[in-house]
Amino acid sequence: MSIHINSKKDEIAETVLMPGDPKRAKWIAENFLNNAELVNTVRGNHGYTGITPQGERITIQASNMGMPTLSIYAEELITKYGVKCLMRLGSCGALNAETKLRQIFLAISSGSDSALNFKHFGLTTYAPTANFELLLQAYQAAKKLGISVEVGTNFATDDFYDLTDQWKVFAEFGVKTIEMESAALYTIAARYKIQALSINTVSDNLVTGEKLSSDEREKTFTDMVKIALAM
Ligand code: HPA
Repeated sequence: MSIHINSKKDEIAETVLMPGDPKRAKWIAENFLNNAELVNTVRGNHGYTGITPQGERITIQASNMGMPTLSIYAEELITKYGVKCLMRLGSCGALNAETKLRQIFLAISSGSDSALNFKHFGLTTYAPTANFELLLQAYQAAKKLGISVEVGTNFATDDFYDLTDQWKVFAEFGVKTIEMESAALYTIAARYKIQALSINTVSDNLVTGEKLSSDEREKTFTDMVKIALAM
């Protein structure tokens, strides 16, 4: 057991899907896995382990929101439970008017305003990057399933209600999406030499102001799970 995960060591699989929302973790376990068991109950941030339709053992552990929180789960899953592959299934904002709501993005890399990486690297920049094999597998799985997918650079922010509109600078440099987790996920995965990928669905567009309803969010969430389970 670790501080934030009260599973026994063998209750966590080597591959972990990380939705942000604990309710999504439950929903994936109930609708996509066989023999799913609740394996983490700490703080109500539930985790489940079960068997995929292809017969592979997999864990679904919610990361909750933001890089400090995701970092705690990623660090404990890797160092205490021997996890080798972390895949985020999240939502993101689009940073240009042309990107449609519901578009799925694979984050090839992620910039950040987070103090976490300033602590490691100071004023030098580090490039948090997805694992190429996972990225390719997710891309090919989406194409095979007929799900529209794009690959783009992400901006991971600590500041959801940013008063400074800093995303506009990132948009100028071709960054496609904004969310709050991927830079930390990729940095921690690199440090421990494990695989990581963020799969994100566009839930809102910062340029046009459009937003998905909760019903529509559910449908696109299904597509991300299908991609992750078909890899
Ligand atoms: N900002 C940060 N994270 C997000 C956003 C956003 O606009 N949309 C979805 N996740």
